[in-house]
Amino acid sequence: MPIILAIESSCDETSAAVLSGQNVLSNIIANQNIHSEYGGVVPELASREHQKNIVPVVDKALKDADIDKNEIDAVAFTRGPGLMGALLVGVSFAKSFAQALNIPLIEVNHMEAHVLAHFIKEQSRPDFPDFPFLCLTVSGGHTQIVKVTNHLEMEVLGKTLDDAAGEAFDKSGLLLGLSYPAGPVIDKLAKSGDPQRFEFPIPKIQGLNFSFSGFKTAVLYFLQSQVKNNPDFIKENLNDLCASIQFSIVRILMGKLKRAAKETGIKTITIAGGVSANSELRRQLTIVGEKNRWKTFIPKVEYTTDNAAMIGIAGYYKYLKKDFCSLDLKADPKLRIL
Ligand code: KG4
Ligand code: ZN
Repeated sequence: MPIILAIESSCDETSAAVLSGQNVLSNIIANQNIHSEYGGVVPELASREHQKNIVPVVDKALKDADIDKNEIDAVAFTRGPGLMGALLVGVSFAKSFAQALNIPLIEVNHMEAHVLAHFIKEQSRPDFPDFPFLCLTVSGGHTQIVKVTNHLEMEVLGKTLDDAAGEAFDKSGLLLGLSYPAGPVIDKLAKSGDPQRFEFPIPKIQGLNFSFSGFKTAVLYFLQSQVKNNPDFIKENLNDLCASIQFSIVRILMGKLKRAAKETGIKTITIAGGVSANSELRRQLTIVGEKNRWKTFIPKVEYTTDNAAMIGIAGYYKYLKKDFCSLDLKADPKLRIL
């Protein structure tokens, strides 16, 4: 089985993983807390943090996997999409590493990798999604419904026309005074809140596309009008606000996913990306899945937010096809699923 070193640096996590085939031997992630005080990722700071973290993170990934660099068969890296300055660090590192060891280099599309995280071997989950399946890929930068025909063939059936679902969480959280990234905080606070207390509008967008910018504006106007009457409105209703916001975002996502399943006739349904860590989305997928007799797959939480293990599993399938790239290949911040 090939040993693959994988590198991920598309946004604000510096990550390295070592895989032996579909098995993850190590998966090290250095989070960048520096962005929390700015309410979002600051690209230049992200790039600098990656430069600081990349060598120690790779070093730890090799040590934890108990793998010597000479045992590595290929290096997989995130080519895009992502922030240019952030991607450049991982891309340059991967190229130098592969060149020094004279081993193949494998470019990986970050969004395809989120989907392929479902193929990481886990003792707790012996089976994998069968093809074709649908994947709702929801992260801080993207929201897509993808039809997956095989490991390396995917088609985007619908996507967001503006903000991503993760941004809807993060920007709503910012309005509530929560620090970035607010998604996990909203998830936690929502647990003791009433999801039916406040209602936010469901955007009417054609087909399988999404839009979240109107949602964020609706939250803003609602909070402004309430705070005018009661300056402590947010503080006094924080849990209910979080639960209601989360409920509405999940309702929008599940509505389109149900429609996609109906239109395509596909009944194997998966979720992926940072927002797929959301407990309400996971719960709703299970409930709706049972009702509609879908076969559902929910990724392990550690493989939902950005991580290099998912880059490694995507690299593995490309390795099997000898789909290697040249050292001239450039990072592509707008790389798309073709
Ligand atoms: O996939 P990811 O780590 O990075 C991108 O590729 O963008 O996704 C990050 C996004 C952030 O917007 C974060 O708030 C959201 O995922 N997120 C969550 C949860 N955990 C992470 N959103 C809602 N509930 C969560 N538990
Ligand atoms: Zn991601």
